[in-house]
Amino acid sequence: MTDKQRTLVLLKPDAVERHLIGEIIGRYESRGLKVRAIQMRTIDADLARAHYAEHVGREYYQDLEDFITSGPLVAMVLEGRKAIQVVRATNGKTDCADAEPGTIRGDFGTQKRRNLVHASDSPESAAREIGLWFPDLLEQDAEAA
Ligand code: CDP
Ligand code: MG
Repeated sequence: MTDKQRTLVLLKPDAVERHLIGEIIGRYESRGLKVRAIQMRTIDADLARAHYAEHVGREYYQDLEDFITSGPLVAMVLEGRKAIQVVRATNGKTDCADAEPGTIRGDFGTQKRRNLVHASDSPESAAREIGLWFPDLLEQDAEAA
């Protein structure tokens, strides 16, 4: 496949709490993306800080950390053509209230922090985030290469 990419996606604790796991994964799969790895877990502050490194120190960071560590989330790696931009567009704008209807955030939320999903925003962040959440996947690839 040309332009094949991988991206790191989180179904945040609000999505899990609201029983939207199947609905959200269904949208990615229907769009043609492949679930390459998936795991449910509750993360600690260390992983939250590493994942959201660029946000540490912002005025909303502590609330974001409290939210993302508050309960189980689903982490996954999605793969497909131009997956990074495709997933960001499928998710919609960060603030659910600004997100277009038809997007995940636009259909299921009104909040800015509790906005259901995360997705990598560039090839560089995808590589960094996949390394953080699924180090085994990178090792498998290295072995296969
Ligand atoms: O997730 P996305 O890349 O769309 O947005 P971001 O600007 O990278 O922010 C990361 C996350 O921080 C958002 O998805 C929100 O959950 C949270 N956030 C927040 O709680 N308050 C803000 N003022 C901005 C972002
Ligand atoms: Mg971001």
